[in-house]
Amino acid sequence: MSNHTWAQIALLQRFVEAPLVTNQVELSLAHHHLINDGIMGNQTGTEYAGAAGTLDWCRLHGVMIQAWAPLAKGRLIDPPADASEPVRRAAAAVASLAVARGIAREAVALAWLLHHPAGILPIIGTLNPGRLAACCEADAIELTREEWFALFEAARGRPVP
Ligand SMILES: NC(=O)c1ccc[n+]([C@@H]2O[C@H](COP(=O)([O-])OP(=O)(O)OC[C@H]3O[C@@H](n4cnc5c(N)ncnc54)[C@H](OP(=O)(O)O)[C@@H]3O)[C@@H](O)[C@H]2O)c1
Repeated sequence: MSNHTWAQIALLQRFVEAPLVTNQVELSLAHHHLINDGIMGNQTGTEYAGAAGTLDWCRLHGVMIQAWAPLAKGRLIDPPADASEPVRRAAAAVASLAVARGIAREAVALAWLLHHPAGILPIIGTLNPGRLAACCEADAIELTREEWFALFEAARGRPVP
């Protein structure tokens, strides 16, 4: 499945015999609604992203989350001149941590997804060998909680509640 809410998966599962085992969704530091929704429950003024509960429900029911555009099509690595302010902030935080840890920026952005306890599987799209190698560096690093939340807060543009 792709881009399904938890309710759509549950509804579909009522009518098909094959177990529904994956949900491929856009997810990255530049598009973090599924993760952000988990910390914004019962908050005033929350932007509606239509993702509420989907990450938790998928974890509870053994549906793997596959993250498409995990590098925001390269915008998290080299933000273009017209990149939005949130993407610029996230890319700057990624670049800063990459320098501090001595690893590729691609690896930092992917490690942010891999560190999440949901077992998120990033689906990278590059066909460039050098970029592929940079992405693979993500397997060799473990972000600290402080590093993970610093990236998240930079991408959100405000602290977590
Ligand atoms: N289910 C869905 O609705 C949906 C939607 C979109 C995509 N997808 C799937 O998800 C896969 C990944 O999505 P994506 O391609 O958007 O993922 P991505 O890994 O975020 O972006 C990869 C794209 O960004 C470019 N890029 C530019 N600078 C880059 C850098 N420094 N590092 C890595 N890539 C850079 C790549 O070009 P180069 O090849 O030149 O590096 C490539 O075109 C796709 O192949 C597709 O199968 C699914």
